[in-house]
Parts: sequence; C-alpha cells; structure tokens
Amino acid sequence: MKKTNYSSMLQSITAVLSILLLSITSVESLLAKNIQVNVAASGGLDTTLRHRKARPSSRGDATAIDGSNSKLQLLVQERHVVLENSIVRVNLSNPEGLITAIQYKDIDGNLLDHGSAEDSRGYWDVVWGEPRKNGTMDKLRTTTFKVIVQNENQIEVSFTRIWDTSLKGKVMPVNVDKRYIMLKDSSGFYTYAIFDRLKGWPELSIGEARIAFKLSEEKFHHMTITDARQREMPTYQDRQKGQPLAYPEAVLLTDPVNPAQKGEVDDKYQYSTENKDTGVHGWISVNPPIGLWMIAASNEFRAGGPNKQDLTSHTGPISLAMFISSHYSGEDLAPKFENGEPWNKVFGPVFVYVNSAPEAKKDVFTTLWEDAKVQLAKEIKSWPYSFPASDDFPASDQRGTVTGSLLVRDRYVNKRDIAGKSAYVGLAPPGDVGSWQRECKGYQFWTTANADGSFSIQNVRAGEYNLFAWVPGFIGDFKHSTMIKISPGSKQNLGKLVYEPPRAGPTVWEIGFPDRSAAEFRVPEPNKKFMNKLYANREDWFRQYGTWERYSEMYPTRDLVYTVGVSQYQRDWFYAHVPRKLGNKSVPTTWSIVFEIKKILPSGTYKLRLALASATYAELQVRVNDQKAAKPLFTTGRIGKDNAIARHGIHGLYWLYTVDVPGILLRPGQNTIFLTQTRTSSAFYGFMYDYIRLEGPPSNVA
Ligand SMILES: *[C@@H]1O[C@H](CO)[C@@H](O)[C@H](O)[C@H]1NC(C)=O
Ligand SMILES: *[C@@H]1O[C@H](CO)[C@@H](O)[C@H](O)[C@H]1NC(C)=O
Ligand SMILES: *[C@@H]1O[C@H](CO)[C@@H](O)[C@H](O)[C@H]1NC(C)=O
Repeated sequence: MKKTNYSSMLQSITAVLSILLLSITSVESLLAKNIQVNVAASGGLDTTLRHRKARPSSRGDATAIDGSNSKLQLLVQERHVVLENSIVRVNLSNPEGLITAIQYKDIDGNLLDHGSAEDSRGYWDVVWGEPRKNGTMDKLRTTTFKVIVQNENQIEVSFTRIWDTSLKGKVMPVNVDKRYIMLKDSSGFYTYAIFDRLKGWPELSIGEARIAFKLSEEKFHHMTITDARQREMPTYQDRQKGQPLAYPEAVLLTDPVNPAQKGEVDDKYQYSTENKDTGVHGWISVNPPIGLWMIAASNEFRAGGPNKQDLTSHTGPISLAMFISSHYSGEDLAPKFENGEPWNKVFGPVFVYVNSAPEAKKDVFTTLWEDAKVQLAKEIKSWPYSFPASDDFPASDQRGTVTGSLLVRDRYVNKRDIAGKSAYVGLAPPGDVGSWQRECKGYQFWTTANADGSFSIQNVRAGEYNLFAWVPGFIGDFKHSTMIKISPGSKQNLGKLVYEPPRAGPTVWEIGFPDRSAAEFRVPEPNKKFMNKLYANREDWFRQYGTWERYSEMYPTRDLVYTVGVSQYQRDWFYAHVPRKLGNKSVPTTWSIVFEIKKILPSGTYKLRLALASATYAELQVRVNDQKAAKPLFTTGRIGKDNAIARHGIHGLYWLYTVDVPGILLRPGQNTIFLTQTRTSSAFYGFMYDYIRLEGPPSNVA
C-alpha cells in the first residue's frame, strides 16, 4: 500500500463534526460578496448555496469584476460532502462516497436521476466472489472520509474501506480508496480508485468493476458514442413496457414514448466499443442545452488490451466507465487471486465532464459533441495527470518510454521485410505469446505503429513487461524475446524488431483478411422486425439484433459451400458459424471449402491456418475429403465464452489453430475441407472466423 501521507491525515475531517464550511475562497472575498460563512448551524444549508443563483454564471463575467469568482470549495456535512467550483457542484454521500448529485452552473436540479435512491445515481461498483462461485454486487460503500488535498487550485477527497478477516465472506477482500478531485475552473471532476489486497488475504475473483451513472431522465435523451453512433434513445420505461427477446438485454419496443421508435430493438450491447475507442461518450440534453461525458485519457487501467470490447452508454439513461468485465471475452477476463496473493491497482482517473451550448445555437448535438472531443484531446495532452495525490498514481517523471520499429518477415509474401504498418504494439505484464488479451490484473500500454512500423509507447509505469504486437494483414502474435524493465524516466529504443508470422509454405488459397474481426464477411441484411435504425448502413449490420438467425433462412436445408476461385468471401462466407434451426431443434452445421489442386505432393504436409475472431461454447471439427469420417482430422474441442454473437460484436477473443493436412489426404483435382460446428444447445453457440489459409508444403522461396 502507499506510504501514509501524514500531512493529509492531519487534514482529516471526521464525519461526526456538524457542518463545517471549508472554503478556499478567502473569507474576505466571501464577505466582499456579502455571503456569510455558516459554520455553526447543524443540518442547515450552507449559505453559498442560497446565493448560488445570484452569482454570475460565467467565469468571464466574474473575473472581469475582481478575479476572485473562480472559487473552489469543500463543504463537509454530517452525511454529505460537497465539492464545488464556479461551474460544477458534486454531492457525495458521507462516508459511503456515492455520487448523489451533479449540478451545473445555475441549472436547476440534479443532472443525475434524482428519483433514484441516493445509492443508485452515481457509484463505483464491483461484482466479486470466490472463484467458481456466483458473484455479489457491491457498490463499494466506504466507511471513512478524509480530505487529502485542499488548496486554492485543487480539492481531493478520499473515501476508504479497510478489510480485515472479520469481514471474510461478507466483504470483498480488498482495501478500497475512492478519490474525487475537483480543480479550480474545471468543468467537471475526476475520480479514481485504488484497490489494494494484502498478502495472506483469501482467494477472490472480480467479475466486473466500473463506474455507473444513472442520469436525469427528464434531461438526457440523446446519446453519443462516436461521430456516427448517436441517436435519440428510448426511455427506461419504454424498455420496461417492451418485449424481451432471446436475451433479456434485447427488447423490442412495443409502445415507446416516441412513436417513431416503435418496432425497434434496444440493447445496451449495440453500443459497445473497443477499449482503444472509448475515450469519450455521453449524453446530451436539449433543454437545457448541456452534455455530460465520461472521458478517459488513457486505457492503461482497463483489462484486456486495446481490442477488448465493453459497454459505454445505454438506455436508462446510463453512462459507464468499464474497467473489468467478462463482456466479449468470458470469465478469463475476471481477475482471480489465489489465497494470499497481494494486488494493488489504480483504476482511472476518469474525467466526468459537463458542457453547455448557447440556447440559440441550432445544432446542440454537434456543438456539444465536438466540444467533448476537444476536451478529450486536452485530457490526453495532460496525461499522465500531475495532480492526483495518491503515491499509487505515478506522475510523468515516474514513467518511461519505449520506442522501436516493427517489421514483418514473410518470405512467401515479400522477399524483403515489410513495415509493420498500423500494428498494435503494447507492453503488458509478462506472459506467453498473446497473453495480453486475457490479462486483467496489471496495466497495459498500447499504441499503433506508423506506416513505416515505427512506434513509441509513452507514459509507461515502472515495472517489468513483455512487448507484444499484432499486425493487421498477418496472422498470429508477436512477443519480443527480452523482458522490458521500465524505471522512472527511462527511455529505451529497441531498434528493429522482426515478427515472423506462422508460415510454412506458399498460399494455396485464403479466405478473409487477417485482422481479428469477421466484419469483412457476409453480415446479412437485418430483419425489418428487429431494426435499430441507427445501424441501417451495411458496415454496422453486425450490431443489429437477430443477424445470426438469418443463417437458417439463407441455408434452410444445405449448409454453406465456398468454392475457391468462384465464391467471394464478402458475399458467400457467413459471418458466424452457428447451428441451424430445424423445427424446434438446433442441428450441427458443416461448411465446405471446395478447391482444386492440380499436383499434390503426397509426402508433403499442407497446413490449414484457422484464425478465429470469436468462439462461444463451440467445437470446430475439421475433415478432409470425407465428411462422414468418424474421427475428424482435427478438433478444437469445446472452446470460448465470449458470447460475441449474442452481444452483436464482430469479434471476441482471438484464436489461432494450425492443422497439419498430410498430402495423402488430398488428391489431384477437386478437394473439400469440411468445417463442422458440433455444439447446438443454444442458437448463440458458434464461431466467427477471422481468416483461413491453406499452405502448400515448403517451397524453396524461403
Ligand atoms: C447533498 O445532498 C443531500 C441529499 O440529497 C442534501 O440533503 C444536501 O443538502 C446536499 N448538499 C448540498 C450542499 O447540496
Ligand atoms: C449461480 O447463478 C446461476 C444463474 O443465475 C444459478 O443457476 C445457480 O444456481 C447459482 N449458483 C449458486 C451456487 O448460487
Ligand atoms: C415444437 O415443440 C412444440 C412444444 O414442445 C410442439 O407442440 C410442436 O409440435 C413441435 N414442433 C415440431 C415441428 O417439432
């Protein structure tokens, strides 16, 4: 655990004190504005509040007068702690550290859902349990409040909960320290949490860790995830009245407040993004014209690396910051701690940003979204933040940089090394090749390489890492052979790194593009009965509800047959290998790849590279030229729990298999490879392919 900060302990305020106004604004300037400081009355409202409406609402006005209106103050009540600057006011429950209200300038009321109970408006939460047992949801109600920093530029408060063995089985065996920071003149607040497990504590699995906000239903109707993904959302009541579909998260809207949304499907998983794209998302209110945004300047604290997908914002209105979850991955992404295993991790800081547009402005949505993106860019520029007071959050000078360039060597593609253009390159805790996509206890630092393969990974915390990479256009995973040790201020140039992707011979044929996604395959036109109108364009169809069901409609009796040289994968390779619905039953499906080979090398070994973009409780069996063979040439066995088919993802976790195909199994002329998905107890069991390639025996190119 961090070193104890005695000066901040001295500043600790115990909750039993009655109202105490701790204003940074000097008493003189308060008096000058004729605001009285009330330190005695218990249960009463603080006076700055009553005067709030009378205050000029814009910083500009105030500064013009005396430069002193950019106040920053902390109010500690018996049951609440309020952080306030000239723009935003945040009300936290004391000592639980739940966010009960966010207020903005002179706008009336709470931006969070005031109709919800105080513990259901804004909170950190986890789902925890003993490994292999069902989890318990815990809103991390803390027991001690402390002031950590209080000066004219910053307030930082801490809400902690300390674990001891008397709490075994009842409380997650982790010390929790939730921090809230307000800076002067900042249009929002920061929050982060330090999780700390000491040696000797009982075993634990954490299924989910996040921050959740339930926003004001009256105000927030318009949700924005990306430039293209934004819409007027149904209400929570619309969902309640609707008809749950095959997964209860998917609801057909039968009687929505907005009649135009009738017949649409609402499902929170339709708004997921990859970690690398989750910098900013949020909600917009038209009247008053304000936006509330969740901004993360870094993903270093999110589990699973850059391509892990997770929820963002969804109907409620709900806004989330996800840190740990099994979404699109399965329980491998739930960190598990053995009996006695220590752990320390900082989640965040994330910035909760509030902005506003002039009433007169026509395009409120664009104005606020563009401004939110500008704010994200500013946050990224000041990352790693210098202001969090916890020693567990290292500042910039405590971090290091790793540079280098990545080349790909595949002599069957190019005689020269190929630049690792757009490669994902990252540092993650030491592990096997590809382990980063399941890594969920430590920190990960990723970047994408430039066109020439050069990369720079900045702001890396001190520690030991492996350098991993994967390159769009090539199968497999790169792991640099030597361990990388980052010390404060270190700058390491690794020079040229060469990735040799799996390859044993020339390409006989290939299907798809190796990029860990099934997006390039045939995603069927959505069923008109289950539309989300936001996703009308082809590139978004995989986000629609029910696309998997279309397999049975498109291939009612005969399974998919792909003929090399005739078929096109964009048109003829269905995006998900699922069972077929036959009456009330679900039956296994066998896809055929038909191809010609003129000359076979019977003594040679051909290699079938099977790159999977997703797997859910499915088994893939491979047979060559004999569909009925009792024993398959190869089986994956039952693999995968990423559930990406049901969750409208176009990928989950990545799997790569190589199947040796002895030349004697092939014949001159037409051959067929049969791919059978055998597991049928659910319509959602299946695979998504990323890419398939057949390689001939080695030739002397290499
Ligand atoms: C904080 O919220 C509580 C509960 O809604 C309320 O009683 C209290 O007055 C609030 N404090 C301030 C300063 O707004
Ligand atoms: C765990 O949850 C599942 C699904 O909700 C339930 O079927 C099962 O009985 C639960 N098991 C235990 C041990 O509580
Ligand atoms: C499907 O199941 C229902 C109820 O179990 C049964 O009544 C019906 O006959 C079945 N239909 C077919 C085609 O098997």
